Amino acid sequence: MSNMVTITDVVTQGKGITTLRFPFSGGSPGQFVMVWIPGIDEIPMSMSYQGDMAGITVKEVGEATAALSALRPGDLIGIRGPYGRGWDIPPGRVLCVGGGVGMAPLMAALDAIDDPSRVDVAIGARNIGEIIFEERARGRSDDVRVSTDDGTHGVKGTVVALASQMMREKSYDAVLGCGPEIMLRFLLQACKEAEVPCQVSLERLMKCGSGLCGSCVVDGLRVCADGPVFFDHEVKNMSEFGRCRRTASGGKDRV
Ligand SMILES: Cc1cc2nc3c(=O)[nH]c(=O)nc-3n(C[C@H](O)[C@H](O)[C@H](O)COP(=O)(O)OP(=O)(O)OC[C@H]3O[C@@H](n4cnc5c(N)ncnc54)[C@H](O)[C@@H]3O)c2cc1C
Ligand code: FES
Repeated sequence: MSNMVTITDVVTQGKGITTLRFPFSGGSPGQFVMVWIPGIDEIPMSMSYQGDMAGITVKEVGEATAALSALRPGDLIGIRGPYGRGWDIPPGRVLCVGGGVGMAPLMAALDAIDDPSRVDVAIGARNIGEIIFEERARGRSDDVRVSTDDGTHGVKGTVVALASQMMREKSYDAVLGCGPEIMLRFLLQACKEAEVPCQVSLERLMKCGSGLCGSCVVDGLRVCADGPVFFDHEVKNMSEFGRCRRTASGGKDRV
């Protein structure tokens, strides 16, 4: 059952991307909550802020995310969770690689790493309007670099190319990645070549969010309970990874 919470803050983060803050505590970095928008739907959202005042960062793609993005301070939403297995943040040097709204669960990881010299960040998006959390990341890391596909901010190119460059320049003990699945597929390949262990956060259609209904299963693993964060050795054999996902009607979509 959802806890009803009152939205206290709404911040426009970028083009079609909005952060909602509300009083809700608990959760570890990389975990997600099921968000109920009364009269519309219930959808999974990563926690972009944790602590007493939690936050989610929503990219508008369809009906539920549009309804969430239109909410204002004082409006109510239902929250269930937190759920899932989040990031396993190792000791040593970490590189966070975020594509677009994929920066949301990575910000929770950055907030949990108390030493700005041991975590670097590569943020990428299609264009400057979709780069989020750059300033917030700069407050948590000594080396934050940005790329855009069209060159409107930072270096021109993909965030995986940027991350590969960083892995050639410095040594890391782990890479944490979140973003479009095709990006994660290339990131995994880049990490394999650089011999750096990698974790990625995956998205699949979710109903219960708590490991019971089976709607998020990929090759026997429940994304909601066994993930959403998976280790490289777990995803490398997933038949759907970087290729397709199940739709609400039971068919399959390309990622
Ligand atoms: C664990 C987890 C964490 C997530 N965290 C975030 C987050 O922090 N911020 C955020 O904006 N979104 C996040 N998502 C994705 C979000 O849940 C979906 O975008 C949302 O459910 C779409 O609902 P809708 O009704 O707006 O769109 P729909 O009408 O359901 O879909 C609109 C379009 O988006 C596509 N779509 C639907 N679901 C997904 C999905 N999971 N991934 C990619 N494309 C999808 C559909 O194929 C369709 O083309 C997360 C998903 C999961 C599983
Ligand atoms: S959403 Fe029900 S098992 Fe994952």
